Amino acid sequence: MTHKIIPVPAFDYFVFGATGDLAQRKLLPALYYRFIDGQIPQSARVIGCSRSKLDTPGYRQLAANAIRDQVKPDYLDAKLLEDFLSIISYQKIDVSDPESWCSFASVIEQTDQTNRVIVFYLSVAPSLFMPIINGLKQHNLHNNARLVVEKPLGLDLESAKNLNTILLDAFEEDRIYRIDHYLGKETVQNLMALRFANSLFEPLWNSRYIANVQITAAESIGMGGREEYYDKSGAMRDMVQNHLLQLLCLSAMEPPISYDANGIRDEKLKVLRSLQPYSGSDVGRNTVRGQYLSNDRHLSYQQEAKNPNSTTESYVAINVGINNWRWSGTPFYLRTGKRLRTNMTEISFEFRHVPHSIFGGLDTPTKPNAMVIRLQPDERIDLEIMTKEPGPGGMRLRQSILDATFDSKTNQSFRMPRAYERLLLDVVRGDQTLFMRGDEVEAAWAWVDPIIEAWQASGEAPETYEALSQGPAGAFELIAQAGHRWRTIQ
Ligand code: BG6
Repeated sequence: MTHKIIPVPAFDYFVFGATGDLAQRKLLPALYYRFIDGQIPQSARVIGCSRSKLDTPGYRQLAANAIRDQVKPDYLDAKLLEDFLSIISYQKIDVSDPESWCSFASVIEQTDQTNRVIVFYLSVAPSLFMPIINGLKQHNLHNNARLVVEKPLGLDLESAKNLNTILLDAFEEDRIYRIDHYLGKETVQNLMALRFANSLFEPLWNSRYIANVQITAAESIGMGGREEYYDKSGAMRDMVQNHLLQLLCLSAMEPPISYDANGIRDEKLKVLRSLQPYSGSDVGRNTVRGQYLSNDRHLSYQQEAKNPNSTTESYVAINVGINNWRWSGTPFYLRTGKRLRTNMTEISFEFRHVPHSIFGGLDTPTKPNAMVIRLQPDERIDLEIMTKEPGPGGMRLRQSILDATFDSKTNQSFRMPRAYERLLLDVVRGDQTLFMRGDEVEAAWAWVDPIIEAWQASGEAPETYEALSQGPAGAFELIAQAGHRWRTIQ
């Protein structure tokens, strides 16, 4: 396996929310990895911006701790870390204070920004988007700069539209980078390579040959300290509206004309617009909500949320129909949840049975083929096929797995990049292919909103499930109606 490091141009990355969890766990370590790979020039600048009383040495110390905490020991090198820290500085700002903006702007004006890519990364609560964008605009800092925003991108269609209006008021669409970090995962990009760089699969990629598609994002953790946010959002807003629908789009979309931002995003948008809309009683028939119970080691959802009456879902399963020629008749089953058996994120394409088995009398019945794209914990693509059991003893069949493993085991010198590494530098390169366009975000909310409304109108509590189990029983019944079974979370 070969890989190529192409250095990016000099940049100034202003990270608002610089002392927050995302900056410490994901952004700084991602930039460090790319720095040691030689992709980030020494002339680049990373400027942490937040309200905290810190100075540059203090922020460098925080960054060093975050990197030591998150980066694998093999990649920690004292000299390289020192070099990386030297490109980091800190700028205190209270984004709701006009005076603070004036001093922030005057510092920026004094620095030479010619021939540099300027990026503002908003790793902050959505309530701060507006004051930051207004501040940037008032001081003309937004001109020619790029803006990165993180989810939640709205709480529903209306708030998502309002947010798009605020963003577009200061930045054109081609300067707005809406992050869905699932799109930065290596295997997700591999799904596109697999589908569109091979002629083998395309003839089979439709409802005639594929019986069902299962997209699972299972986590064994609970809310992980984010109770306040999560209890207001739930699994539908937290995972389905963004990550799972994005995976569905890439699995189902038509071949784009080219691998570029609008080519891909036009096709994803078409998929979102083809989703069978659910409202009212369709919702009860096609969705299942769950909430985890306690076990001897873990609190229940309600205990963890400190909200004994919470009806927020920590689990969702949905039978999604896609109304177009390619997919009509093939259900796409989405499922995600917290406190499930283990961490497992995968997309599986289960093919139809052979039309007639010539091995009728054999003990082992043929199993349908499946292609499984595994995102986590190990990244790989498996093709499950039937083969003959080797050796004497007659014609006995068994299931074999053709394994295309992409993790670093295949080449010891290759390090599997983390999602944020790719995305952070794509912003500097000006490549929006792996970012969501505003109309995609709105189309996803337009499909999700009526489902959430129907759940709320029903007044029913979610079904419960045992902590560290496979999820609520209702989810199994949901797909058993069509003769399908969920793959085991393992
Ligand atoms: C985030 C969600 O977007 O994705 C979290 O807010 C979830 O609740 C996380 O845990 C999962 O990401 P990953 O990369 O660990 O699958």
